[in-house]
Amino acid sequence: MAFPVTRLRRLRQTEGLRGLVRETRLTPEAFVYPMFICPGQGVRKEVRSMPGVFNLSVDEAVKEAREVYALGIPAVMLFGLPEKKDEAATGAWEENGIVQQAARAMKRDVPGLILMGDVCLCEYMSHGHCGIVRKTPGANTEYEILNDPTLELLARTSVSLAKAGIDIIAPSDMMDGRIGAIRRALDDAGSINTPILSYAAKFASGFYGPFREAADSAPQFGDRRSYQMDGANLREALREIELDIEEGADMVMVKPAMPYLDVIAAARERFDLPLAAYQVSGEYAMIEAAARNGWIERDRVMMESLISIRRAGASIILTYFAKDAAKLLA
Ligand code: PBG
Repeated sequence: MAFPVTRLRRLRQTEGLRGLVRETRLTPEAFVYPMFICPGQGVRKEVRSMPGVFNLSVDEAVKEAREVYALGIPAVMLFGLPEKKDEAATGAWEENGIVQQAARAMKRDVPGLILMGDVCLCEYMSHGHCGIVRKTPGANTEYEILNDPTLELLARTSVSLAKAGIDIIAPSDMMDGRIGAIRRALDDAGSINTPILSYAAKFASGFYGPFREAADSAPQFGDRRSYQMDGANLREALREIELDIEEGADMVMVKPAMPYLDVIAAARERFDLPLAAYQVSGEYAMIEAAARNGWIERDRVMMESLISIRRAGASIILTYFAKDAAKLLA
């Protein structure tokens, strides 16, 4: 050979060397653990399609929150399964809503834990859509998801959550203009210091399937394609993020994570705000299911999936693996 062969393998010989030259690192500090709060007492009901993930009543959720915090995970994202659903999403914004109750209890018991509140109406609406539905046949559909009237309910929900002790408001509904509407409402209510984490580029995804079982939030008719993004669009995702930043988002999110690593990378390149990515229910379920079949090594694939999200540029990762990954990193 006329030239010396480049020996990249020199630095791969031992775990010590590999660790020394590793470009991307995971720490539990970057994780957010999603939790599903349900009514009752002593309830700990496993989600069928998400082994290891539970619907928890407030008392059980507080125990779990303690465990999460002790593992070095700084934050949880709270979702609620209300006692009743209706067409005004009352359970989302009432003072004694299920997430509001959980927030008060967690603030009391685990004051250091950062509480993020997912702001959306689908879990609280009887029809399972993320906004107000008008059932009038239009040009293309039998119904319409109304944008601007929905903003008012999202703003009301955000104010109520902040009042109950939620530290970070995280709207996931994908209505246009919601970040601005929520920012104004929070400011008017005196919550000027409450940050907004926008699910800015949220794609209409088949990977949300298990979540809809966990949160009992599947739409009763139609789908979410008229408000969530088309999976084919990267430039539009950047526009969504840009608008949310203009409207006052403090942090932005791309969701799902693994099928959209290019979107995460492009967003990291373009914007300077803290960037989160949500490794969603279907991403978790897929890995769990293959591992249960003995087809992949669970822990190894779990860590590989998380490092890929980090490498793409997410500084914050929402993941159902948070606890197990934190244990491996300890
Ligand atoms: C609410 C919401 C969803 C998820 C987070 N917030 C479901 C959806 O949009 O249908 C999905 C999270 C997951 O799949 O883990 N709109």
